[in-house]
Amino acid sequence: MTTQPINLSRALASFSQLWSPRIVTRVNDYDLRIAKVAGVHVWHRHHTTDELFLVLDGALDIALRDAAGERTVHLGAGDVFVVPRGTEHRPESASGASILVFEPSGTLTTGDRHDPIPEHVDSTVGRELVLGP
Ligand code: NI
Repeated sequence: MTTQPINLSRALASFSQLWSPRIVTRVNDYDLRIAKVAGVHVWHRHHTTDELFLVLDGALDIALRDAAGERTVHLGAGDVFVVPRGTEHRPESASGASILVFEPSGTLTTGDRHDPIPEHVDSTVGRELVLGP
């Protein structure tokens, strides 16, 4: 964990891979992660944790599926949404977005149960953020 301030714009500029979150910092046992996204992620669920999304730039849709049925929430820059634990969800962005995700360290991007993972989706607990000098 860094002891210096971290600029999110600079952090976002340090990588280009889509659907591959970078860990910006940790708060107790939670990760603050950022990701660049475009296209469709994969249906998945987290059995034991909620997952917070904040859109930094662009627009993100999150399809949700539970006992009550299926719906989609539409998020623009500055919007926050929490996917409740146990709820199947599939983020997607037609035009691309930069997002921030807040969730317990060790949480897999593809959850505990998921559809087959497409090639463009990185199944990870978050990658290290590598900032240049
Ligand atoms: Ni998730």
